[in-house]
Amino acid sequence: MQVGFIQFKVFFGQKKENIEKVAEFILKKKADLLVLPELFNSGYLFCSLRELHALAEPVPDGMTSRTLIQLARDHHVFIVAGLPERAGMNYYNSAILVGPNGFIGCYRKIHLFDTEKKWFTPGDNGFAVFDIGMAKIGMMICFDWIFPEAARTLALKGADIICHPSNLVLPWCQKAMLTRSLENAVYSITANRIGTEHNEGATLTFTGHSQIVSPKGEVLAAAAHDEKIITVDIDPVLARDKKITPNNDRFADRRSEFYEI
Ligand code: ACM
Repeated sequence: MQVGFIQFKVFFGQKKENIEKVAEFILKKKADLLVLPELFNSGYLFCSLRELHALAEPVPDGMTSRTLIQLARDHHVFIVAGLPERAGMNYYNSAILVGPNGFIGCYRKIHLFDTEKKWFTPGDNGFAVFDIGMAKIGMMICFDWIFPEAARTLALKGADIICHPSNLVLPWCQKAMLTRSLENAVYSITANRIGTEHNEGATLTFTGHSQIVSPKGEVLAAAAHDEKIITVDIDPVLARDKKITPNNDRFADRRSEFYEI
């Protein structure tokens, strides 16, 4: 299975241009599964609810979802992409999974980072795993990385690949994701972005270095700090063996009676 990410400089508020850039990258490389950054169509640094309202869209009927579904159909690829979702009176920092046959699922970011808490409602639909035939796919978004429970829950639900759209600004996630992959024996694809956003006195610089990690915690591919589509060939079945020694199984050995969660 050929899986990868698209890392690029998202321009705040320029949905059409951001989506067009993704479409150009998809043309360049054949893949079965591609992961895009968090909020890939809108940009990140919202300074008002009005701004967010103008950029957020219903899922899956909004323009971005429909365009991604068409791209997935045309290029026979599954796509995970982060976008601002509008649902009634609420806004969610969401990720959608679409494929050649249409919309598959939506994850709403559960652990909101910093000022996201001003605009977004925390996710309310849990961590779900979707079977796309070639593999079972889990989604989490950016700051979810610091809660090991997020990746663990997805792995316990059977995810082979954790798709991780991100807009990282702190320096620790890439290293932490090696452990998330190793402790759960899952592949992870962290699709980060690059670029700097300024909005009403605030500035954020996104750190790039997107990566794909194996169930053994090895980096299979990593980007630097430039615009890139990278894919690697993986065998999702390797993520189904949870043994770490002949006498240890990551899941069967869990002593959940001693965990206070
Ligand atoms: C983040 O969760 N976007 C840092």
